[in-house]
Amino acid sequence: MARILGVGIATLDIVNEVDHYPAEDEEMRATAQHVRRGGNCTNTLTVLSQLGHGCDWSGVLAAEPDGGRIVTELEQFSIGHQHSLLQADGKVPTSYITLNRANGSRTIVHYRNLPELPYEVFESIDLTDYDWIHFEGRNIGETKRMMQRCREHYPDIPLSLEAEKPRESIDELFSHADVILYSRAYAQALGYKRAEEFLLGMNEKVPTATLYCAWGAQGGYGLVDDSLFHQAAFAPEVLVDTLGAGDSFNAGIIHAQLQQQSPQEVLHYACRLAGYKCGRSGLDIQAFE
Ligand code: FRU
Repeated sequence: MARILGVGIATLDIVNEVDHYPAEDEEMRATAQHVRRGGNCTNTLTVLSQLGHGCDWSGVLAAEPDGGRIVTELEQFSIGHQHSLLQADGKVPTSYITLNRANGSRTIVHYRNLPELPYEVFESIDLTDYDWIHFEGRNIGETKRMMQRCREHYPDIPLSLEAEKPRESIDELFSHADVILYSRAYAQALGYKRAEEFLLGMNEKVPTATLYCAWGAQGGYGLVDDSLFHQAAFAPEVLVDTLGAGDSFNAGIIHAQLQQQSPQEVLHYACRLAGYKCGRSGLDIQAFE
């Protein structure tokens, strides 16, 4: 199995399960509550680790009790955090999440007060041992330098990039990635209504990269070597929890790409994994086959 480094965030997720989505100014009871580590990059690593890969994370930790909780949970999933930066001030980025059990939707209010990862931390990592490096499309200026370092000194290590939110200048990262993992939210923010048109539009800008995009209940789409691919979603019997479904889809893409699967197989695997995750609470996918 592969050695994978992920660069991005770890959050604290406070998840309230509710039986319907609240109206504004409503007072209601949550039916359950979960407090867990979250964050796109560490979510993806959590899934990859359970698929058998050796995973390390590089990101910022806050020196406060919730930071300790994040470390404990990373260790539970054997995710190395030796390349993280412990920040004396600041708070673990925290998401207050309303998980509607009626339809699995997850509404996130996110608070952050923590500096982003500086390039210098990444520069000190010996990358020779890694088979794959995954970046979150955030902290654009520094992430661009990190990706450039990989390209210049480790041109053989495949790089994936997640583009989940339209951040200023995020497109400056695209040409450095081998695989770009777009979200539906990103495509829609750019005004696209259909995944195919979105991917064709992106392909004109980054013709060399392999592009994938998860599209919720419509499944996943890919664009590889100028050909479009689509895979229908694998809806679980009961839709339990969509939090981290996109992160699981991305883990599925990375895993299947590492196994040199064909684009259609890659999408099939990622959609099956994301669907499996949506049928259960949290990111425990140990029993996924
Ligand atoms: C899910 C997630 C949560 C986190 C939020 C950050 O994709 O990573 O775990 O709180 O998104 O934006």
